[in-house]
Amino acid sequence: MNSPADLRLPFAVRRLTPALGAEISGVDLAQGVTPEVFRAIYDAFLRYQVLLFPSQEIPPAAQVAFARQFGEVQVHVMNQYHADGFPELYRLSNLDEHGRPNGRHPDKGTLAWHTDGSWQRVTGQATIIYGEVVPDTGGETHFCDMYGAYERLDAAWKARIADLRAVHNLDFSRTRRHGEDPLTEAQRLEKPPVDHPVVRTHPETGRKCLYLGDHAEYIVGMPYDEGRALIEELNALAVHPDLTCEHRWKPGELIVWDNRCLMHRATPYDPFTQRRVVRRCTVLGEVPS
Ligand SMILES: [Fe+2]
Repeated sequence: MNSPADLRLPFAVRRLTPALGAEISGVDLAQGVTPEVFRAIYDAFLRYQVLLFPSQEIPPAAQVAFARQFGEVQVHVMNQYHADGFPELYRLSNLDEHGRPNGRHPDKGTLAWHTDGSWQRVTGQATIIYGEVVPDTGGETHFCDMYGAYERLDAAWKARIADLRAVHNLDFSRTRRHGEDPLTEAQRLEKPPVDHPVVRTHPETGRKCLYLGDHAEYIVGMPYDEGRALIEELNALAVHPDLTCEHRWKPGELIVWDNRCLMHRATPYDPFTQRRVVRRCTVLGEVPS
């Protein structure tokens, strides 16, 4: 529960793990959040990286309004996912028009550790997901603290990667890696590959973190295969039990996380027997540096 320093907060805070994550209770998101309460939520967002709001009814409009308090909400290039009349919302569902599981996983790319929007020049700040329907088993969301991942590297690793830049490419991660849901030619032209520092400094906390994940394809100035191997090695090194937070969803929960200092992934579920419908929006952040 709240530490003494938190007693003035307009909500209760319960840590999810020692490293990251907190449950925020006592905020009615459907009613809207005042600027004062939002400031306290935003402080918690920077401090805990992942915020879990317990089950509540949140209409799409309220989710978008909450997201807009964080900043400009992204309209995703893959417009086949737009939902509920809001181009800012991206719906992932495995249900057919009768509400039955259709046997197809809507986005296998989410199964690999990644950070949202790293394939754009201006990358993702917050991602906000609301669980409408969640599976009985599987379909969890896992988070990995990339501040901690950087801090765990030894001095030699830190020196080796200090000035490296990685090219992030949505076409790589979607088409070549997962073999599904390829971008259209127009989408590909709209979102060409971009390069970002492998070690970025969080623009608000000032802390350094690793910035890679599944969209990172190769390293600028390094032979392709060598860069691929380096990215794979660092992505694997980053994930450690002390740095991860694993969440099993209940219906009606909402989770907000900071893409600038986290990787995340979804775990598999059986799309033939389990039902999963989540709606997501991503707030645009900044150009990483
Ligand atoms: Fe994601």
